[in-house]
Amino acid sequence: MIRKCLFPAAGYGTRFLPATKAMPKEMLPIVNKPLIEYAVEEARDAGLQHMAIVTGRGKRALEDHFDISYELEHQIRGTEKEKFLAGTRDLIDTCTFSYTRQVEMKGLGHAILSGRPLIGDEPFAVVLADDLCLNLEGDGVLAQMIQLYKKFRCSIVAIQEVPRDQTHKYGVIAGEQISDGIYRVNSMVEKPSPQDAPSNLAIIGRYILTPDIFDLIADTQPGKGGEIQITDALMKQAQNGCVLAYKFKGMRFDCGGAEGYLEATNFCYEHLYLKGR
Ligand code: UTP
Repeated sequence: MIRKCLFPAAGYGTRFLPATKAMPKEMLPIVNKPLIEYAVEEARDAGLQHMAIVTGRGKRALEDHFDISYELEHQIRGTEKEKFLAGTRDLIDTCTFSYTRQVEMKGLGHAILSGRPLIGDEPFAVVLADDLCLNLEGDGVLAQMIQLYKKFRCSIVAIQEVPRDQTHKYGVIAGEQISDGIYRVNSMVEKPSPQDAPSNLAIIGRYILTPDIFDLIADTQPGKGGEIQITDALMKQAQNGCVLAYKFKGMRFDCGGAEGYLEATNFCYEHLYLKGR
């Protein structure tokens, strides 16, 4: 079954400069918790234990976050503040963390390929931490996708309906609906203009991938923007066999830009932080 989750976190985060000049985008806090911690929690809650993080230059704070800070813990031991570290400590105690570096930022597909030594030859999940996904009503998005994987045993991408004038920001799929909210993908276009988009079903930052994806990425030439796109490799996988797209239950905030980040902050403050969740 699926045990490992890959977190590509090597991007430059140019939409959030200057905040991301010397700090990883994934360490931006939503209220008092960094994006990467929400992402790791989602994976842990989906039953995954091995967290594999693809980092890059200037991203060391990610490794320090999932490590014990003896001095700090000593300072706050026995005080009210101890509770603020309890969640992070629990992740450190229950999960393993491994890291590799993407030395050249050649796109999401390339970042996933860089994670191959940490994943090996088994199906795995991918979470882009700057897409914050929450489902207050039930299972998180990754848990929903893992349920689906158990049934279909093929790669799955999470999708969301977006306004037509936003398709240029996403990979967009076309496919036949096989059951409620589940599509069999037959076409995929990276960042199409509204007139070229095959639908308004956009891929967001959650994937389940079967390990044959690695060889397909390795054979993929740079596409749009000179980057190695995961959508090109997924397209080949869809042609060879089957890729599903899943309209998930829950909310998604694009925290890679100011607007989504602010929305997420307001939402989490009201629905999580104030309620002690
Ligand atoms: P984005 O498209 O959001 O790019 O990457 P970015 O560089 O992080 O941010 P902007 O657009 O410049 O503001 C989507 C995800 O893929 C990772 C990013 O860290 C993010 O989680 N990524 C992207 C890599 O790990 N390596 C890359 O070469 C590109």
